[in-house]
Amino acid sequence: MLGFGVIGTGEIARDFTRALQGSQRCRVVNVAGTSANKARAFAAEWGLRASSRTVEELLEDRRVEAVYVASPHSAHEQHALASLAAGKHVLCEKPLTLDAASTQRVIAEAVRRRRFLMEGFMYRCHPMLRGLLECLKGGAIGRILHLRADFGFRASRGSGRLFNPERSGGSVLDVGGYPVSFARLLAGVTEDAPFAEPTRISAWGRFGPTGVDELASATLTFPSGFTAEVTSSIAYAIGTTAVIHGERGFIVLPNPWIPGGDGQGRHNAFTIHRDGREPKELTFPTENAVYAIEAELVADSLPMLEPEWPAMSWADTLGNMQVMDAWRGALGSGRRPVKSEVTRGINAFLKVNQEGDLP
Ligand SMILES: NC(=O)c1ccc[n+]([C@@H]2O[C@H](COP(=O)([O-])OP(=O)(O)OC[C@H]3O[C@@H](n4cnc5c(N)ncnc54)[C@H](OP(=O)(O)O)[C@@H]3O)[C@@H](O)[C@H]2O)c1
Repeated sequence: MLGFGVIGTGEIARDFTRALQGSQRCRVVNVAGTSANKARAFAAEWGLRASSRTVEELLEDRRVEAVYVASPHSAHEQHALASLAAGKHVLCEKPLTLDAASTQRVIAEAVRRRRFLMEGFMYRCHPMLRGLLECLKGGAIGRILHLRADFGFRASRGSGRLFNPERSGGSVLDVGGYPVSFARLLAGVTEDAPFAEPTRISAWGRFGPTGVDELASATLTFPSGFTAEVTSSIAYAIGTTAVIHGERGFIVLPNPWIPGGDGQGRHNAFTIHRDGREPKELTFPTENAVYAIEAELVADSLPMLEPEWPAMSWADTLGNMQVMDAWRGALGSGRRPVKSEVTRGINAFLKVNQEGDLP
């Protein structure tokens, strides 16, 4: 049994802890949040043996072998670095950090401490993804040409971190990494590589009253000619569909990111529409919820320091973060001071359409 300590007592900490109750190989043994009371209440709700008053106290617990970082994005770097320094393996929620430079710092610490590190894109751990990659490599729709992938929902404006620029709000950082990572993975199929990097990006976004991007889109062009149109939103119910277009048909994935909630990805499916044939649905039932599959992948990967493809390797995470930096940079949010984002963003429909070469 791999013992996880959880940092954070919010929504995803709950989903993860609930999922691990069905695991035979991983369990949550301790939790820390912003207060001793919140951690105690969380531990009581989920029947954990212990809770900690502070993150530092959690990291002193010897039963905590791995840490699941489930705090807001803005605290990920700090929590991942502290956990690695304390000798713990780390599964950190996406985005691993706020930009590529800080991602490099966390990876360097994992190397220095010889500890496992993975960014928590749980969809990369689900058997459906392997099934999809096999179909694509087997030529199910011929050479793949284009991806259209969305991840967006309509959150309440008053709600916590999503609209708050001080807590790294905005759609690109929150959910844009999913379609970008998927596009890079599929581009890898076209180049017979684990993943590939785009050479060009064009982007536009719509900013809300708090100055964060509430709807954003990017077109990525890869060296093989493969293209991807990706969209993220925290204020528009654009859904979660991905469609992969190939020379001989297309594949529709209604839930490529394997959502949380009650289902937790136990019955995920996609449909192959091959020219001249009846559509064929492939389903991938799993016994465990997706977050337990992800945690068990961490356990199975040890003593390696990073997971095997198609889960997020360090180079994959770093490449993803570089594209996110470029996307945010093209939108004009990137590393600009929050104040200027607000000034530019108030009720504005900011159509940037900046084209730029990526590093
Ligand atoms: N993979 C997925 O499916 C998925 C889904 C959702 C979110 N996420 C990621 O998970 C992270 C958390 O998202 P969420 O929706 O769970 O947010 P959330 O509901 O706001 O929960 C964040 C939790 O972290 C706590 N926290 C804040 N600062 C902290 C600190 N310095 N030390 C310890 N705890 C701290 C918060 O405490 P308070 O309650 O006191 O504020 C809260 O309990 C985000 O980075 C998000 O991108 C991933």
